[in-house]
Amino acid sequence: MASLQNAPLVFVPTMGALHEGHASLIRRARRVAGIDGSVVVSIFVNPTQFGPREDFSRYPRPFARDRTLCLREGVDLLFHPKAEAMYSTDASVTLSERTLSLGLCGASRPGHFDGVCTVVCMLFQIINPEIAIFGEKDWQQLAVIRRMVRDLKMPVKIIGHPTVREEDGLAMSSRNSLLEPEARRAAPRIYHALLATAMEYESGEHSVAKLRRRLLHDLASIPGASVDYAEIVHGETLQSLKKINGSIPARALVAVRFGPVRLIDNIALVLPS
Ligand code: PAJ
Repeated sequence: MASLQNAPLVFVPTMGALHEGHASLIRRARRVAGIDGSVVVSIFVNPTQFGPREDFSRYPRPFARDRTLCLREGVDLLFHPKAEAMYSTDASVTLSERTLSLGLCGASRPGHFDGVCTVVCMLFQIINPEIAIFGEKDWQQLAVIRRMVRDLKMPVKIIGHPTVREEDGLAMSSRNSLLEPEARRAAPRIYHALLATAMEYESGEHSVAKLRRRLLHDLASIPGASVDYAEIVHGETLQSLKKINGSIPARALVAVRFGPVRLIDNIALVLPS
């Protein structure tokens, strides 16, 4: 689909089970597209980004509700392909990102970001957007997509959109509804721990080791939680940092499990200007 410079085609890829976080991305897309531009949303639960023991078959697929949300938010085109239409049975070409994908979520989800890159590349080929919007909630995914677009010279501008949270601070996720009531009550403490780290940094603690120790301690003391990782990294390269100062885009990234439910969140570490 070709479009004029001031009437861009803006794309929001999703796996459906849409919530207020997705709706916020779609509203951003609508604003960026303007009245003459177009907003395309895809809903596709991509099998290749789920590991063999992950929740692909259990992933919620409330399509009628998702479609209503898209209509309400002024989406021009909803792309909802079948898996057979996306993947040939003998498909043998995939994309692989070999640096940013290895640590953090990639360490416990091998192949996940290759699946994400492959499907996002396919979606870009089909939709041909000028602009695509991704959530900062999945910070590592956003960094990997930016790297893919940079390295493969894809003619798409990537916009990162801030994390949308529940009133109690928990980052919105389709997986939140899978939490047991007690875990749901405890889960906002993930964000509180991140906020405490950001505030400690702001008030002068620049030792990554100390900041990280405090973050790990706060997360580990959440009832029912087990910490998958808690890292302070360079926001673009995702490399672990030894020291931080105002000139580096530092970020704290965490993954925490409550039983089978794995939640991720992150926060920028910035000095007051
Ligand atoms: P999904 O988990 O459905 O997320 C779709 C988009 O919504 C992603 O860019 C994600 O970062 C964003 N998002 C989810 N929760 C958010 C929140 N609370 N605040 C802001 N943005 C939020 O991410 C995927 O699907 C897939 O990996 C996909 C990119 C579609 C490839 O299959």
